[in-house]
Order: sequence, then C-alpha cells, then structure tokens
Amino acid sequence: MNTVVSGIRSTGHLHLGNYFGALKNFVRIQDIYNCFFFIADLHSLTTHPHPDDFHKSVKIILAEYIAAGLDPEKATIFIQSDVPQVSELYVLLNMLSYKGELERTTSFKDKVRLAKAQARNKPVEEISYDDNNDEGININAGLLTYPTLMAADILIHRADFVPVGKDQEQHLEFARVLARRFNNMYGEEVFPEPRALDFGTGLIKVPGLDGSGKMGKSEGNGIYLYDDEATITKKVKKALTDSGPTEPNAPMPEYIKNLFTLMSLVSDPSTVDYFMEKYNTCTIRYGDMKKQLAEDICKVTLPIKERIDDVYNDDAYLHKVVESGREKARESAAKTLELARKAVGFKVF
Ligand code: TYM
Repeated sequence: MNTVVSGIRSTGHLHLGNYFGALKNFVRIQDIYNCFFFIADLHSLTTHPHPDDFHKSVKIILAEYIAAGLDPEKATIFIQSDVPQVSELYVLLNMLSYKGELERTTSFKDKVRLAKAQARNKPVEEISYDDNNDEGININAGLLTYPTLMAADILIHRADFVPVGKDQEQHLEFARVLARRFNNMYGEEVFPEPRALDFGTGLIKVPGLDGSGKMGKSEGNGIYLYDDEATITKKVKKALTDSGPTEPNAPMPEYIKNLFTLMSLVSDPSTVDYFMEKYNTCTIRYGDMKKQLAEDICKVTLPIKERIDDVYNDDAYLHKVVESGREKARESAAKTLELARKAVGFKVF
C-alpha cells in the first residue's frame, strides 16, 4: 500500500487555505493509503513562539484535524517532535543540502523580506532580499534549512505521496532532490521519490479576499475553520471589489477572480455559473455574490467548528490519540532511519 505523509505547522487556527490545500484531502485519502499526518511543531519554532503558547497551538491543530474528520483509527496522527528519528535524519540530510539551493527557495526569500519589513516598520514591497542588512533580525538557520526538515518528515516514512497546497511545491521538489541525492551518494535505494498528491487537478492555491494573493496566517487575511457565522460574513463582506464591469465579457481583475476561485471551492458549480453569467453581462451585484459566498463557506466550516471545542476539551481522548500516533510513527521512522544509518556507514560496535 502506498504511504502518504503531510503536516501542518502549529501556528494558530487552520484557515480555508489549510483546509482546501491540505486537510480536506487528508480526510479524503485516509481510507485508501497508509497515512501519516502530523503537527509540525518543530517547524513552528522558527518564529520563536512563547513556551506558554506552544502546547496550546499544537492542541488546536490536533483538535481541528479530528473535528474536520481525520480518524486516528485510520491514519497515524502524531506530533513531529515526538519522533526523534526525524531530527536525526534532518542532520543527515543537512549534509546534502547546499547553501545556494536553500537560499534560492522562494519561501525563504519571502520570509527574509517579511522579517526585515517588520523590523524596519516598512512595507514588504520596499524591502530587498539581499541587501545584507539583517543585523538583529531573526533570520535563523532553521528558517534556511526549513525545506531540509520538511524533506526529513517526508522521507522518514518513505512516503510515496504528499498532499499539500501549491505553496509547498518547491519544498516538495527539494525533498525529491534529496531522496535522489542520498540514493546516488550512498548507492542504495533507501528513499522513494515522493510525489505531490493533487488528484489530477494540480496543486491549489486558495486566495485571500484582500486582493493580495494567497490566504495565509502571516498575510492576516484568513477565514478560519474556527470562525463563527457572523465573523465569516463580516470578512467576506469586506472583500475587495469594485463597481463592476462596464462592458460584456470584460477581463476580470485579480481580486474578483479570487472571489470566484473561493466560490468554486465551496459552492455548487451552478452557483458559480450563475454569477459568472451575471459578470459577463455586466449585471453582477457583488453584494449578492458575497452573501452567497459567505453562506456557502459557512456550510462547509460550521459543522467542523461545532465539533472543535468538544474535541479540544477532551484531554483523555487526545492523550490516547497522541500516544498511539507516537508509537506508530516512531516504529515506522525507526525502520527507515536504520536503513539510512546503514547506508551512510554507521555500524554498531
Ligand atoms: P503550512 O503549515 O504553512 O500549511 C499547511 C498546509 O496548508 C497548505 N496551505 C495552502 N494551500 C492552498 N492555499 C493556501 N492559501 C494555503 N495556505 C496553506 C500548505 O500548502 C500545506 O499543505 N512546511 C509545511 C508544513 C510541513 C509539511 C511537512 C507538509 C512540514 N513538514 C511534510 C508536508 C510534508 C508548511 O509550512 O505548511
């Protein structure tokens, strides 16, 4: 049976990007594959969260995984830092990760620019990635080698498939490079090359509603699974629009496209067609479209939201889930690490 691995950082509640890019697919495939889904708490350390908040952030993702339908009887659900083999493989893979290629990673460059922008209190558009002026700014080695740790997460279970959103495509490609490089260097077929699991539709990018591209936690434009109806309606109402097209079949501005993209994720295709027709005939009323969009988002998220608090407050149950996930993940990881150590040349004295 094919193995699937994926994880989400513990940096706050999950938004629609996390849901449609990752979690919804986790739920969809848990019956079919040998699945390992984890909470990437080590990855979240790059931004130095306060220790008092750390555990709560992990627990939130765990509860939201389960509330959205992940079933610990079907998939192995675990916490990244519970599996020390990941960190050891990370060390081995760091030796095969070259500075140049890590520095060229888009997410690294974006995070550097963001960190500099915040430190200097300037808009990110005014910041250059390579101005060499990062004194006192938190651009740590963990951030640089972030894709190496992600590769370790994936390769430690010898994954065949990785369900992720579009923003992780480059990282996944790097995991493939490292798998190949390791196999070539050590002359063993230790790691399969993991592939993106995209259900034949391509990896998706869920847009924000502020016209700024992707929905994300650091972008501050998230609609969260934990949001209530009033909050969702308010957020959607505030989405950037204009006074509407003035000629039939006019090209669509990016921020309007984003509304349609979100709608195509949550609404019936006939609803999308209806508003598209209105757009193309210059009769669209964005107020109506937003109202419909908010309603359809709620239809997806509110049933999940309803369950989150109950799961979150059930410590005994969560404890059991984590304990059993830890055991299964460690067992699988230990087998792979053994192969990797042997290939590298470690021997037991
Ligand atoms: P993270 O925590 O930023 O996001 C978790 C998942 O949500 C997806 N996602 C999106 N998909 C579509 N549109 C969006 N706007 C959007 N925002 C987020 C991400 O693509 C991801 O699938 N490095 C990873 C976590 C990770 C991981 C791994 C993933 C660590 N190790 C191993 C897979 C395998 C990350 O930061 O994702």
